[in-house]
Amino acid sequence: MERTENRASGRQVPASGPPAGPRTAAVWAVLRRELDRQAGRALTVLDVGGGTGGFAVPLAEAGHQVTVVDASPDALAALDRRAAERGVAERVRAVQGDGDALAGLIEPASADLVLCHAVLEVVDDPAGVVAAIGTALRPGGAASVLVANRAAAVLSRVMNGHLDVAAALLTDPDGHAGSRDTLRRRYDADGAAALLRSAGLEVEQTHGVRVFADLIPAVAAEADPPALLDLELAASAQPPYRDIAAQLHLFARRPA
Ligand SMILES: C[S@@+](CC[C@H](N)C(=O)[O-])C[C@H]1O[C@@H](n2cnc3c(N)ncnc32)[C@H](O)[C@@H]1O
Repeated sequence: MERTENRASGRQVPASGPPAGPRTAAVWAVLRRELDRQAGRALTVLDVGGGTGGFAVPLAEAGHQVTVVDASPDALAALDRRAAERGVAERVRAVQGDGDALAGLIEPASADLVLCHAVLEVVDDPAGVVAAIGTALRPGGAASVLVANRAAAVLSRVMNGHLDVAAALLTDPDGHAGSRDTLRRRYDADGAAALLRSAGLEVEQTHGVRVFADLIPAVAAEADPPALLDLELAASAQPPYRDIAAQLHLFARRPA
């Protein structure tokens, strides 16, 4: 693989950026454009609910300074191990804390980029978390927000024959399907955008993530991974494909 020196860190990193499979390609494509836009600058990144570092560690490998706030000590221990294995422990800071209390954990206007992936579905107060993200961002900084898409959840329950669960997901105000549902809420593109705008963020891009990756039989996905990846990228910005993806990715910016 072609390698290039990252001007921020002096480290050799893959010229094409972090590796991306079909389940994350659309998100990395957006993030890569933002990193390229800031080329040469080591960014201060905050990953809210960053878990074991699937995004945090590659960003640190690309020379950026990443703080992960997560409620789970086990996830943070795995994050520390992964960062150490990849030689970037000094650029990854793990903070155990509740996303709902983010405002008290992070210095205002300190982050160039905030990730909040698959977290707003489970916190107590998503509007409060998004407001805290807006406060943590420096003016001109960007937020990468990934949420569960209600439409995909409805379709997948119907395809599995769980019509009662599909009906609950369809009609519940929050897209929640009762006490056995592991998510507290799901979004559509307009609802997620409105949430970000309520925190003063300007939504620049909305993509579907895992448009096809969850639909295709495993054997077909494994037969031609590059073709699936290309298809995911091609469909991610195009309604109606975008709107039936398993997740919705919104890229938003705090006005400068
Ligand atoms: C589905 S995982 C997503 C992990 C990572 N963001 C990703 O996309 O791979 C959700 C993460 O959010 C964390 N989490 C759940 N509730 C949280 C809360 N209230 N505050 C902070 N982190 C939380 C979990 O510990 C877990 O690591």
